[in-house]
Amino acid sequence: MIKQHVHNDMAMKEQACPDSVREILSAPARQQARKTIVQWPGYQPTKLQSLQAFALELGVEALYYKDESTRFELSSFKALGGAYAVQVMLRDAIKRSIGSDVTLEDIGYARYREQASQITVVAATDGNHGRSVAWGAQRFGCNCVIYMHNQVSIGRQEAVEALGARVCRVQGNYDDSVHAAAADAQLHDWHVVSDTSWPGYMDIPRDVMAGYTVMTAEVMEQWPLEELPTHVFIQGGCGGLAGAVCLDLWCRCGVDMPKFIVVEPEAAACLYESARAGEPRMVDITVESLMGGLSCGAMSLLAWPVLKLAVNDFLTISDDPVGPLMRRLAREESIVAGESAVAGLAGLIETCKSKDRYAQLELSPTSRVLVFGTEGATDPEVYHQLIG
Ligand SMILES: Cc1ncc(COP(=O)(O)O)c(C=O)c1O
Repeated sequence: MIKQHVHNDMAMKEQACPDSVREILSAPARQQARKTIVQWPGYQPTKLQSLQAFALELGVEALYYKDESTRFELSSFKALGGAYAVQVMLRDAIKRSIGSDVTLEDIGYARYREQASQITVVAATDGNHGRSVAWGAQRFGCNCVIYMHNQVSIGRQEAVEALGARVCRVQGNYDDSVHAAAADAQLHDWHVVSDTSWPGYMDIPRDVMAGYTVMTAEVMEQWPLEELPTHVFIQGGCGGLAGAVCLDLWCRCGVDMPKFIVVEPEAAACLYESARAGEPRMVDITVESLMGGLSCGAMSLLAWPVLKLAVNDFLTISDDPVGPLMRRLAREESIVAGESAVAGLAGLIETCKSKDRYAQLELSPTSRVLVFGTEGATDPEVYHQLIG
C-alpha cells in the first residue's frame, strides 16, 4: 500500500541534464568505473527482463526489470559500488605511500599485495554494501572490518565473514552503525568506504555511485524498444543508488529524460521527508522495514542535488506487498528477487491501483517503465521463509 506521496515541484522536466548535476559524477569517472569493472573476473551484464504480463495488467505498454540477482557472486547491484571504491581507495593510498604511479589495473591484479596488507577498510552495512567492500578487500588484499546493527540477520553476517572480514555488531540502527564505523576508523587510522556521504566525506561515496552506473549503462545498451523509457521507479535507501541511476540515465536520455519516481519503506523515508522539506532531512528509524537494504534514516548528501532536480515523485510503501510480490516473481517469471529488490516494482503496482495516482504520475497505456531488481536471495534463509 502507498503510505505517502509527494510531488516534487523542483524537478526539471524535458530538459538536458544541467552541469550542476553532471559534475557530481563526471562522464570520465563513470567511464573509468565501467572500464575497470568489466575487467573483473566473472563480469557479465545482468539480464533486462520483460514483464509483459505485469505490463498488460497495469495498463502500460511495456515493463522491464533489470535483474541484479546474478551480479557476480554477490547477487546484488552493490557488488559494483563498494568493491570498486575499495580498488580506487587502495590505488590512491598506495600511490601516496610509495610516491610513484599506481594504476587501478595494478590493484585489480593485486600487484601491491604487501602494501595493501597494511591497509584496513571499514564500512557500515545492512548487508549488501558490507559484502561488496569485504569482497573487494579480499580480492585486492587489504583487511576489512564491517559494522552491522543488531537487526541484520546472522546469514548476512556469515556471508561477510566468509569473505574474510571481521564483523562488529552495533546497538541501534543503520545510522548508528555508520557513526560507529566512522568513529573507530578515526581511532585506528582505517579507511572508511561508505555508500553514504556527509559533509567533508564525498569522494569515496562518489566512486561507489560511479560503480553503480555500470548497471544503467548496461540497461541502455539492452533496452530493446525504439523509444526510451518514460518512467523509472527506483527504490531508495540512503539515495546513492537513486542518485546514480537518475544522473546516468538523465545524461544519456537528455531532453527525453524519463520521469523518475523514488520508492522507500514508510519506516525509513528520509528521501521523501527531504523532498517534502525541500532540503535534506533525517528520520529516526524505530521500526526496521522488511526491506532491510532500504532502512536508512539519513540521506547521502551527494545524492540530494541530483534527486532534487531529477525526481518527479517520492512514494513510501508499507511492507505488505513485498512477500507476495517476491512469490509472484518467483512463480510466474522465475525471478529470484530479495526483499529490497521489489520496492520499485511494488511502488508501480500500488500506483496503478489508483486511477488518480496513475494519472498524477502521468502513466498511460503508452508508458514504457523500467524498474531495478536490485538483489536476489542475498540471505537465502530469509528468502525461503518469505517465499514459502
Ligand atoms: C538490494 C538493495 N537495493 C537498494 C538499496 C538502496 O541503495 P541506497 O542505499 O544507495 O539508496 C540497497 C542498499 O543497501 C540494497 O541493498
